[in-house]
Amino acid sequence: MERFSAVLVALALMILVGAPAARATAMEKVGNYLLPVESGEIEGAGTAVPKKCDVVVVGGGCGGIYSGYRLLSGSTVIKPTVCTFEATNRVGGRIFSIRGLGKYADMTVDLGAYRYVDGRHTLVQGLVENLLKLKYVLYDPSSTTFRKIVDDKGDDLGFVTFVEELAKLSMSLGMKLFLNSPVTKVDRMPSTSSDTQYSVSVMGPGGKVMKVVAKHVIFNVPQRPLMRILQNSNLARITDWNPALDMPFPLMAAKMYLYYDDAWWVYMNRLNGTMNDPNTNNATTFNSSSLFITPPLRGRYHDGDWKCNADNSKCHGMLMYTYASDNGGTFSRGGQGLDISPYNGVVPRFYWNYAVNPDPSKPYVVLDMASNSGKNLIMAAHKKVVDYHIGINVPIPEPYASTYPSQAVVVVWDPQIHWTGGAWHSYKNGIFGSAVSTNYSDPRNAVPVASIKPFAGENIWVANEAFSAVQGWAEGSLIMAENVVTQMGAAAPTFISPERHACVLHPTYNYNATLCALSLNPLVQGVTRRSAAAAASSIALATLQASAKLASGRKLGTF
Ligand SMILES: Cc1cc2nc3c(=O)[nH]c(=O)nc-3n(C[C@H](O)[C@H](O)[C@H](O)COP(=O)(O)OP(=O)(O)OC[C@H]3O[C@@H](n4cnc5c(N)ncnc54)[C@H](O)[C@@H]3O)c2cc1C
Ligand SMILES: *[C@@H]1O[C@H](CO)[C@@H](O)[C@H](O)[C@H]1NC(C)=O
Ligand SMILES: *[C@@H]1O[C@H](CO)[C@@H](O)[C@H](O)[C@H]1NC(C)=O
Ligand SMILES: *[C@@H]1O[C@H](CO)[C@@H](O)[C@H](O)[C@H]1NC(C)=O
Ligand SMILES: *[C@@H]1O[C@H](CO)[C@@H](O)[C@H](O)[C@H]1NC(C)=O
Ligand SMILES: *[C@@H]1O[C@H](CO)[C@@H](O)[C@H](O)[C@H]1NC(C)=O
Repeated sequence: MERFSAVLVALALMILVGAPAARATAMEKVGNYLLPVESGEIEGAGTAVPKKCDVVVVGGGCGGIYSGYRLLSGSTVIKPTVCTFEATNRVGGRIFSIRGLGKYADMTVDLGAYRYVDGRHTLVQGLVENLLKLKYVLYDPSSTTFRKIVDDKGDDLGFVTFVEELAKLSMSLGMKLFLNSPVTKVDRMPSTSSDTQYSVSVMGPGGKVMKVVAKHVIFNVPQRPLMRILQNSNLARITDWNPALDMPFPLMAAKMYLYYDDAWWVYMNRLNGTMNDPNTNNATTFNSSSLFITPPLRGRYHDGDWKCNADNSKCHGMLMYTYASDNGGTFSRGGQGLDISPYNGVVPRFYWNYAVNPDPSKPYVVLDMASNSGKNLIMAAHKKVVDYHIGINVPIPEPYASTYPSQAVVVVWDPQIHWTGGAWHSYKNGIFGSAVSTNYSDPRNAVPVASIKPFAGENIWVANEAFSAVQGWAEGSLIMAENVVTQMGAAAPTFISPERHACVLHPTYNYNATLCALSLNPLVQGVTRRSAAAAASSIALATLQASAKLASGRKLGTF
């Protein structure tokens, strides 16, 4: 509640002051941890839980919110009542943007998902670009594959924006959303009429358990949270769940961002490409454990948010220092987990002890230089960045090389994160979900089809990335959700063509690989503003270096 009003005050301030750069709000601090503005705290979420809902959606991740939207916008029959229960204080699940970071409280970081694939992610792209009409740019200026969500000026809005907007739209269509409302069990009620009914237990404020009767239950939760609910429910005593539900296993991923008051990489015009510890993924030199006693470097210049003042003479930003994950058995995530024995998965684990949030449902912390652990981490990381640039013969100029970043965002999505149970999933045979098939003797292929309705004859549905054909992506979750609502009788969606709808339905899945990968929209906004800002800023760097020789101290204006 308190935090919510702080958000409102910050919002009001922003409106009054105008340019976000003019705002310098100190983040609230608890112990060592700074509290940023979290996303997804949708206004108007309910507290009075109804006794009955036609459809209960368990989980307010992208798949749950999408299910609610589709049932209310696409139903050919009478609109069902849809109640969505989300365990945490926010919608979005593993799409989790935090905002208000950095000295000027205007930086956004995506702790989880952050981009979508043009064309291939038909449903995400259809929602973002066609239905919600959000602005988008290339995620990486040197690749046309990925897009991300931005505001009118081309600045990062956070990937969760589409889930927030979809939640608001669904609520305007009648969806009832309940935050801080975990579902603890779902019992099948004794049949009293032709309708099968379920009693859904919801933990309300203060631990009070409320019961809601439903005709259908859609589980949007990942595998571990689903298992927790099922172990507590009578469903599995009535009939076994399909073994497909046991197939996924969770993988771990970590990110770290550093906040710099001077975005030197922008001044240096390094706006794409990666920054990796030398010798990672080199079987000969990889053995050195020194790679892992300081924070492993596996960054991307193009990922983090940055902004410049009006004449582009000074820019500040978040540098993505590391993005790393486990590999999944025989499936390699492009070396993100450092696939060479004995270091498989070591990189995400390095950050484990830092990303301990006092709230066990949250995968991240924001640290500054005021605590010893924050200071040590930030200083060691900065030193590595400086050494890395010396190593590639592009040294970071002074005064930036000797200026530490002032904040670090550390996130580790591990299976302990209570409502998530990992970053994303692979299958137990070590193969990443990539195909849909009704060939049940190949359980990998059959998982998405079989887990959608895992209890024979019951109106119990599952829509989550964990069991999907596109594991590790929001699209996987939405594809499952689309198949669920279609089987429940929803009419086709309006924001993509019938041909593209057929691409995501299981019976016709990817029926024409060319057609199913076509872009839905041309790239209209491009990267113009940011390129221009960067070009101007790199000129500023030359000016700065020249003036630094004449006098010490900064010549650049302040905000
Ligand atoms: C680091 C990282 C990077 C990623 N990058 C990308 C990317 O760039 N692009 C992309 O498309 N995807 C990416 N992904 C994957 C993407 O985030 C997920 O595939 C997607 O968000 C999953 O959505 P979901 O709705 O299936 O599940 P979730 O997001 O896990 O949602 C499930 C919801 O259920 C809630 N819940 C759990 N238990 C209960 C309960 N008992 N009662 C009520 N609610 C409950 C949870 O709190 C959560 O809100 C990334 C993920 C991570 C972690
Ligand atoms: C990507 O980075 C390289 C090397 O820094 C640079 O030469 C190239 O112009 C960049 N491409 C784009 C599109 O920014
Ligand atoms: C790995 O390191 C060795 C020793 O430094 C070097 O000879 C070799 O070229 C490196 N391999 C790759 C693929 O970088
Ligand atoms: C590193 O490990 C590999 C494989 O175990 C071994 O062949 C190599 O000699 C080791 N290199 C060093 C420098 O210890
Ligand atoms: C089904 O999958 C099994 C196991 O992969 C395979 O041996 C079999 O040929 C498949 N059947 C069909 C009809 O594709
Ligand atoms: C697949 O779609 C492409 C693009 O629309 C089209 O040109 C092609 O003819 C289609 N292929 C088949 C086999 O229908």
